[in-house]
Parts: sequence; C-alpha cells; structure tokens
Amino acid sequence: MFDRENDLPAWDRDHFFHPSTPAGQHARGETPARRIVGGEGVHIVDSTGKRSLDAFGGLYCVNVGYGRTEIAEAMADQARDLAYYHAYAGHGTEASITLARMIIERAPKTMSRVYFGLSGSDANETNIKLVWYYNNILGRPEKKKIISRWRGYHGSGIMTGSLTGLHLFHTNFDLPRAPILHTDAPYYFHRDDLSLTEDQFSARCAQRLEEMILAEGPDTIAAFWAEPVLGTGGIVPPPAGYWPAIQAVLTKYDILLVADEVVTGFGRLGSMF
Ligand SMILES: Cc1ncc(COP(=O)(O)O)c(C=O)c1O
Repeated sequence: MFDRENDLPAWDRDHFFHPSTPAGQHARGETPARRIVGGEGVHIVDSTGKRSLDAFGGLYCVNVGYGRTEIAEAMADQARDLAYYHAYAGHGTEASITLARMIIERAPKTMSRVYFGLSGSDANETNIKLVWYYNNILGRPEKKKIISRWRGYHGSGIMTGSLTGLHLFHTNFDLPRAPILHTDAPYYFHRDDLSLTEDQFSARCAQRLEEMILAEGPDTIAAFWAEPVLGTGGIVPPPAGYWPAIQAVLTKYDILLVADEVVTGFGRLGSMF
C-alpha cells in the first residue's frame, strides 16, 4: 500500500535525478529535500505544512501566482478541443496564431514575429542559430563569435551553458566552448577599484568590451548576449550609464545585442519588457 510520508522520500532518493544537487549526497538523504504540496498567490506550502513566500516565483516563471483556476480551466478547455499540434511547415492553430499576435501587441515596437520554444535554454540556442544564419545570409561567415558576461545566466545546454558565465555550470562539463567569450560582469558592488563612480565603472565595462572586440577582430564578433538585469548571477540592476555605453560600442562594430529577458520579461519588473 502507498505510504506517502515514507515512500515519496525513498523514491525521491532512489529515482529522482535533480539538477544542481549533489547526486550522491541526495541519494544518501544528506541534502535538504523539500516536497511542495500546494501554492496560492505568492505562497507555497510544503509537506510539513510550512507556508512560505515564494520570492523567486517558482524558478522566475510563476508570473501570475499559484492557484489561478481561470488559467487551469482555459488549459483544460484547450486540451479537450485540441491538445497539440506542431508549428512546422506553416502549421498553426487558433491558439498559437492568436498568442503570437497578443505577444507582439505587448512587445517593443521593433518586434514583429514570435518563435515558440520550450525553455529559456532552447530560446537562446535558437537565437544563436538565428544570429549565425543572419551573418551567413549577409555573406559574413567569419562573424560568428559571441560575447556574454561573467555572472550571466543563459541556460544549461552546451551552447547556452557556455554563454552562462558561472563556473559552477562550466566545471566538470568541459564548458565554455568556442566561439563564446566572456567580458566583465556589470556588478558595481563588487568592483575592484572602489574609487570609480557608477558611470565610470560602466564606461570601463564598455572600454573592456571594446578591447576584447578589437583583440578578436570586429569582423569575427556576431553578438553580445546579456540579461537587462543580471538574474541568477546575483539579481543585479545595471550600474548607471551601463546600457548606453555598451550599446555605443556594439553599434560601432555592427554587433547584435541579444536581450535575454527570460527573467525580466512579461511584466516581472513592472513593464512588459
Ligand atoms: C536569463 C535566463 N536565461 C535563460 C534561462 C534558462 O531557462 P530554462 O531553465 O527554461 O532553460 C534562465 C533560467 O533561469 C535565465 O534566468
């Protein structure tokens, strides 16, 4: 007979391979293991009955809170009508076409199309392919390197794990891989030179970026990849003057800026993007 309180912890230790969790310690029951049983609004409840504020919103993805029955009902209605259809070779559904239109109505004016993916890592992988494709079409096959930032987080795949600038995600996985390079984190609080103002620090980040571009050759750099607000690397807003200084360097060398809004987009910071 199923014994929830004993069977679930045992099955978890024996069969559940958790990301970012020491596997051996978890199997021996030495890591904190927490089972979430419910959620409402901004709160979650675990199996001991403890209710906590879910300050991360799941893994940054529960934008509208837990327990939204109107969303559950819309999902159930759609599943009854048509649970699935793909988007290849021009296929769409009323739901996928309408959703694309609704996103574009809320997106910055320069956006015109939506590509649906499955995760943030998948979105970044697809973007890398688009950036490379773009330069191939323009007859610039050498312009393929990508610069991201130390402390940036862009996913956990081979390429997206390389874009990520956190050693935890590189060590033991043979990452980062070419052609990804990392420049300074925009982390003013951790600056090595305490005499710098925020604007001076931002100018130095832009200068270091320009030095890297010149050392590599501007004709080899395709894109700069960054979160508007550093997320997993510390929840760090950019220092004053950072984005205008960076954008000026990118424009000068015809380098695309890819804004990874997995954490900041869709209203999480008070504006849609
Ligand atoms: C900025 C950013 N990009 C990409 C990702 C990867 O998303 P996923 O875990 O859905 O692959 C994350 C995940 O937290 C993220 O914070």
